[in-house]
Amino acid sequence: MLKEINGIQIAYTDVGEGSPLLFVHGFPLSRGTWSKQVAGFKAHHRVIAPDLRGLGESASSPGPVAMSRFAEDLYALMQRLATGPVVLVGHSMGGYVALAFAKAYPKALRGLVLVGTKAGKDSPEAAAARRATAEKVRAEGVSVVVDAMAPKMLSPGHDDPAMVSLVRGFMAGSRPEGVIGALQGMADRPDATAWLEQIRVPTLVITGTDDAIIPPSESAALAQSIPGAKLQSIPKAGHLVAFEQAEAFNAGLSNWLTSEKATQ
Ligand code: MLT
Repeated sequence: MLKEINGIQIAYTDVGEGSPLLFVHGFPLSRGTWSKQVAGFKAHHRVIAPDLRGLGESASSPGPVAMSRFAEDLYALMQRLATGPVVLVGHSMGGYVALAFAKAYPKALRGLVLVGTKAGKDSPEAAAARRATAEKVRAEGVSVVVDAMAPKMLSPGHDDPAMVSLVRGFMAGSRPEGVIGALQGMADRPDATAWLEQIRVPTLVITGTDDAIIPPSESAALAQSIPGAKLQSIPKAGHLVAFEQAEAFNAGLSNWLTSEKATQ
């Protein structure tokens, strides 16, 4: 489905009925990464999964896209779809967006699930590397990022060509303008660490034990900094834990949803 949100055509999936779950993908990915959660949760929940602006099938806008801008798009989409408060599940860059969302719209949340993500900002070196990558994408196209990231998304054991080709498919639709805007937005993002203690909604942090992009230690630190947060580590899973180990991921999320009354 497609709706104009904040002047941009945003593509999204919206299926099922029940307490709403909003799934937000990472970079330079798209909502296809949540296909196994859409299938697994739609029997008991309303499941919404957008493509963030500039990525997947959503249209792009010129210039850097701040994490708070992505969060505004999510909030506007929720208003348009009349979802009411959601459990927001954010993966990696989607987690940076989820933290920006939690800060801006705490009342729109029933719970927060932070997957393979962290609260800190980029080091000066990491920010400079992102800006250099953005220039490379401008000159050479999106394949620069896809080629570099696809093999790192999965655990070494699952790094086979068939799985990698599925993962590449999740990145295939993203356009240079969108990829550049997200890279610049991530390079500019503020450090959310000091603010984490103000989170008041039930929170679950999930990490893949083989995550090579956001190491499990970052997820452990994130969980420790959020009052009452739970941490789940999923074995044999890399950065794209929800896709690679969907059964374990869905079981963990489902158990947590059941145990947290606020999220029912
Ligand atoms: C992601 O998966 O969203 C990105 O790898 C996050 C990042 O580059 O910081």
